Amino acid sequence: MLRTHTCHALNSQHLHQNVILCGWVQNIRDKGTILWIDLRDHYGITQLVAEKDKNSVNVIQAIKTLSRETVIQVKGQVIERASKNKNIPTGDIEVSIESINILNHATLLPFPIHDKQAVSESLRMQYRYLDLRRKTLQDYLRLKHQVIQSVHQFLDQHQFLHLETPHLIKSTPEGARDFLVPARQLEEHFYALPQSPQMLKQLLMVAGFDRYYQIAKCFRDEDLRADRQPEFTQIDCEMAFIEQEDILVLFEQLIKTIFQQTKNITLPKFKRMPYTQAIQQYGTDKPDLRWGMPFFDLKQAIPPNDFPLWKNQTHIKGIIVDDLDGMYTRKKIDQLKGALQKFHPVVGSRLVYIKYKKDNTIVSSINRFFTSAQLQAFLQTIQAKPGHLVCILAGDDQPTQDALAMLRQIVIQNKIDAQSLPLQDFIPVWITDFPLLHWDGDVQKYTAMHHPFTAPQLPEEGWGQLDLYPEKVKAQAYDLVINGVEIGGGSIRIHQKQLQEKILQLLGFTPKTMQQQFGFFLNALQYGAPPHGGIAIGLDRLCATMQGTHTIRDFIPFPKNHQGRDVMMEAPSRLDLV
Ligand code: AMO
Repeated sequence: MLRTHTCHALNSQHLHQNVILCGWVQNIRDKGTILWIDLRDHYGITQLVAEKDKNSVNVIQAIKTLSRETVIQVKGQVIERASKNKNIPTGDIEVSIESINILNHATLLPFPIHDKQAVSESLRMQYRYLDLRRKTLQDYLRLKHQVIQSVHQFLDQHQFLHLETPHLIKSTPEGARDFLVPARQLEEHFYALPQSPQMLKQLLMVAGFDRYYQIAKCFRDEDLRADRQPEFTQIDCEMAFIEQEDILVLFEQLIKTIFQQTKNITLPKFKRMPYTQAIQQYGTDKPDLRWGMPFFDLKQAIPPNDFPLWKNQTHIKGIIVDDLDGMYTRKKIDQLKGALQKFHPVVGSRLVYIKYKKDNTIVSSINRFFTSAQLQAFLQTIQAKPGHLVCILAGDDQPTQDALAMLRQIVIQNKIDAQSLPLQDFIPVWITDFPLLHWDGDVQKYTAMHHPFTAPQLPEEGWGQLDLYPEKVKAQAYDLVINGVEIGGGSIRIHQKQLQEKILQLLGFTPKTMQQQFGFFLNALQYGAPPHGGIAIGLDRLCATMQGTHTIRDFIPFPKNHQGRDVMMEAPSRLDLV
């Protein structure tokens, strides 16, 4: 060992001990007669000290040659610090330097290793190994490691086997494009990298493994966002002889255990919400429930009236915004309207507000059309209180819903910016009862809401419904949403060949294309496939959400940038085909 302790380990219990530390020079402070070095390693920081009249000339000279991030080995004695730093575990002591051994010099860095430094994202990505020296990123990646440990332990205790599935496979449909790998020995043939191990984990159930899991790498060629990477990790699971309820209960327990073990956070009982309710109340199937603000429906609640913006509109819906601090001035409301109009010019232009002020007076954009008694009646109907701002939109179902969801999102962002606290830190919810299929008007065919292997909510004698009212059939599918982020999703699978063929047919496959793409899988279903189901949790998203951020890049050591490029390695790159 090159060291006796790490830079996190020493405290007043070690006073007068001789120690050896190794690490990076984070900072040097030269006060003339006395010099300090902050020595950093993965575990923490220890202050080193040298005094001109106490330490040898060699030591003083060596310190003067040091540059930041140079790697050194230091021998010295632990002494008490004159001015203590209560913010770090080593803050009561410092190490008086007896000798310094320079292990490796560092030249001038492209940016300082500091969390607070404003450095462009692209420069950080280019020197990712330096960016990763930051404490925040090291803490994030340690959290991910701890989450993985917790997952292994929990699933092992629940009889899951960690089984590997291959990366060079045939396309697995999850709704994105595949990354392809040319096969050297078969001209014009390609492997696809798995978008998920979906079919393979189902085949493991056919093979008789009762419970499978894998910390699985998935690859999806899709447009990137803060919470999407082309290469990401799933906690991928599958179980035989279970029903939806078993999965929801077990995986609620898993997520609660992870939060408890790694963050000491006790999650509340997971809510349940059918898809239709989520859409009607929040305009999204990923509602962030920490902020309240479900939509109210005024259409049914108020008597018919001639107000031009509402007359003949099928939907009149709104949200109640907390405005106790009077943040929503006329100007701010105009800004809201402007943002909505950019998104949906017609519905956005119909934004109506009623401000129920703290002194019980009412200010609104519709004073000319309604008496104050009528406005009072609206406010009573929707149970608005003094200090509330009521925002109402009107129009057709979908655009009104979408515009209101956007309005809610802007209001939430304003709250975050104003540092108002959410009602609770984490609110997990299972979204259930998704439609099985979705009609894609662009390509004029049905697509699977989840994936084509998801079982419908139909008894065997009811399969005919699929031909009669395909879009009305619901799926045995569920998503786990925490704070507005889709953390995971899964379903009970189709285990009968005939039903699987029927669904593929509805999705536009001909017997020939079905055979070409899924022949091996359909075949397997006829050899005694057990009823089964599963789920996949996005590991990177889970960690980011636990940490209160959306940026999953920070939880991946070497992520891609927004164009899917690794700017450090310069991948993808042209091949030199010689
Ligand atoms: P799904 O496609 O919903 O389901 O993926 C499961 C979870 O994986 C995460 N995720 C991603 N994370 C980062 N970057 C991405 N590009 C990305 N795409 C998805 C999300 C998501 O909830 N085979 C099914 C699961 C099953 O049915 O068992 C599947 O992959 O957190």
